[in-house]
Amino acid sequence: MDKQETHTTGISQSDRIPADLLFRIDEAVTHYPISKRSASLPLLHLWQNHFGFIDDSAVNWISKRLDLEPINILELVTFYPWFRQQPAGKVCIRVCRTLSCALAGGFEVRDAFCTAAGINPNAEMHGHTPPVSADGKFSVEFVECLASCGSGPVALINDDLVEDITPEGAAGILSQYH
Ligand code: FES
Repeated sequence: MDKQETHTTGISQSDRIPADLLFRIDEAVTHYPISKRSASLPLLHLWQNHFGFIDDSAVNWISKRLDLEPINILELVTFYPWFRQQPAGKVCIRVCRTLSCALAGGFEVRDAFCTAAGINPNAEMHGHTPPVSADGKFSVEFVECLASCGSGPVALINDDLVEDITPEGAAGILSQYH
């Protein structure tokens, strides 16, 4: 995965698309010669992997690139919780809330991660705009099943799958990311 560029500069993302991202976008579109629209999700993943989130300029740019209307891209960004419209923390904590993990204590683990990260556990949880710690270091959000249901509660911390988490162990896990 690309190093995520999560800081904001005041310049829209579409004004600073690097050549290698453009190359990969062009290459991805070639996989869908009959319907360019089918490249929407691959392009959104490429974009978020590079920039860390998808701003309004990205929605407009991608829609133009695929000969679509902006709403055709925006509806994907707002439908899939994986896509975000605001920067996440440098350390992005995604806690599974699906049944097996929930029964094993996933909600308590999420609260413990929030507390350890300095985030209000009562903060609004929405995948598109996750709560971020004041220093920008951590964000915590819920996601659906991470395909490790037998070892819950499970969380994805950046690209690391962490299993069998307890609320008591959450702070120690985050300390590895300092
Ligand atoms: S229910 Fe949590 S990993 Fe499947």
